[in-house]
Amino acid sequence: MGLNVAVTSHLLAALRDDLFTAEYTADALEALWGADAASALRRGHREPARRAIDPGSGLGTLATAFVLGLPVDRSRLDGALPRLGVDGAVQLGLVRLDGALAVPLLDLRPHAFVDAAGPGSWWIASDLGEAALGHAIPEDHVLGVGGASSTLAGMMVGERVDSVLDLGTGCGIQALHSARHATRIVATDISARALDLAAFNAALNGVSSIEPRAGSLFEPVAGERFDRIVSNPPFVITPRVQGVPAYEYRDGGMVGDALVASVIRGTERHLNRGGIAQLLGNWEYRDGEDGLDRVGGWLDDTGLDAWIVEREVQDAALYAETWIRDGGVLPRTDEFDRLYGAWLDDFAERGVTAVGFGYVVLRRPLDGPPTLRRIERLHGPLGQNPTGLGVHVEASLHAHDAQRGLSDAGLAAAALVVAGDVTEERHYWPGDEHPTVMDLRQGGGFGRTFPLGTALAAVVGASDGDLPLGSICAAVADLLEVDEAELLAEVLPSVRELVVTGMLRLG
Ligand SMILES: C[S@@+](CC[C@H](N)C(=O)[O-])C[C@H]1O[C@@H](n2cnc3c(N)ncnc32)[C@H](O)[C@@H]1O
Repeated sequence: MGLNVAVTSHLLAALRDDLFTAEYTADALEALWGADAASALRRGHREPARRAIDPGSGLGTLATAFVLGLPVDRSRLDGALPRLGVDGAVQLGLVRLDGALAVPLLDLRPHAFVDAAGPGSWWIASDLGEAALGHAIPEDHVLGVGGASSTLAGMMVGERVDSVLDLGTGCGIQALHSARHATRIVATDISARALDLAAFNAALNGVSSIEPRAGSLFEPVAGERFDRIVSNPPFVITPRVQGVPAYEYRDGGMVGDALVASVIRGTERHLNRGGIAQLLGNWEYRDGEDGLDRVGGWLDDTGLDAWIVEREVQDAALYAETWIRDGGVLPRTDEFDRLYGAWLDDFAERGVTAVGFGYVVLRRPLDGPPTLRRIERLHGPLGQNPTGLGVHVEASLHAHDAQRGLSDAGLAAAALVVAGDVTEERHYWPGDEHPTVMDLRQGGGFGRTFPLGTALAAVVGASDGDLPLGSICAAVADLLEVDEAELLAEVLPSVRELVVTGMLRLG
């Protein structure tokens, strides 16, 4: 788009005023077409929303052009953008004129969110999707705010910091979220078009702390360190053969999962002490090699704390189908089958049977060697996290450090409290007096369940912050007529785990 944001800043200010005056918000759009049409839109079908729109209203005109990607009457758009005008919209590259019609060139929609700092919303410009284009997206497509973008944004640790690197910024959504808690953000991308859009979005939303930089991976920040690194990198595994499209937004140009390995390995040189990197990624399961063991291997030669959470695994065929379809190629066409073959050949070459997807949290220790190495499968639904998972991630890192700082005797001297979102489940054989299964269930965070034995259930049940853990264990040992030291030794590892996972709090 070749946009010079400095030159167009007065146009962006006019656009911002117009969108504000038109109440072009996520809630207004949902009210305009209703929840069902909104769901259809998320599935890529715009017809239900189109039918619901009053084309004569300003909001309807903006939504038709910039969410549905349909041409609108030029004079209507002029009326819907009274300060910018249709000529300004042309100058900004939002539309082109075709006779009496204004034809959208960009998607521009409100994005509402809630994070630790409270609710917020932005207008985000990105490239038009497959439905608006009427054909498969081009390889230099710049993605809007998708599911993965929101996942990463939601898990960001929101503590105030000085500097953030957003690697692979795309439309700039992670950089904008980072601007809520950071003084300055460097946003990198190999795509000049993405950097233009990131700059456009920052200026449109009045954010001046984002510096776009062009280049691959860590090249644009050679020799620099940051308090945070966030990246939703182009992690999609793609066959490296002629005739398979290489979409910039999802494909980093490397073989298999090598791009994710590079990003993970590269973070150490670019994090300040105590700095945190948060990434999304895919990893391959190869014949005889568990995907999470591969990720563990990437971490082996780093000095980083690491917490990896695998959220799902797709078998190789399903993975291929998902990403071929994502590129806009329809199933049961020759093109689909050709690409399917290329993907399966590529997987077969490395013995790939499945692909894992998950979250990566890395931290450079403040001093000394790493103390955290947590690699786990959590495929179930997350708990309720009204301001995102970031609060939980942050609390878990602090809890890890706090419990590590306590010897077993120190932990026994601490008074613990069961977190407010934790409930206990008991299952009985019909007619039995004693439960056969007891679990703790977490309402927030990762929505974990933790199995309880009799002693641990009693200890957790009594943990209301009044008595030290050691005294509770002594009383429970007395009640169960078992050795106090043995009971303490039995429950302490579980107590540490419950502290780290946020089910027990150190008082
Ligand atoms: C999945 S998109 C993420 C966009 C945005 N950060 C988000 O969360 O929605 C990945 C981005 O990485 C960029 N990219 C691709 N290869 C890259 C590379 N080698 N170095 C840096 N960025 C790259 C793409 O152009 C794209 O904008």
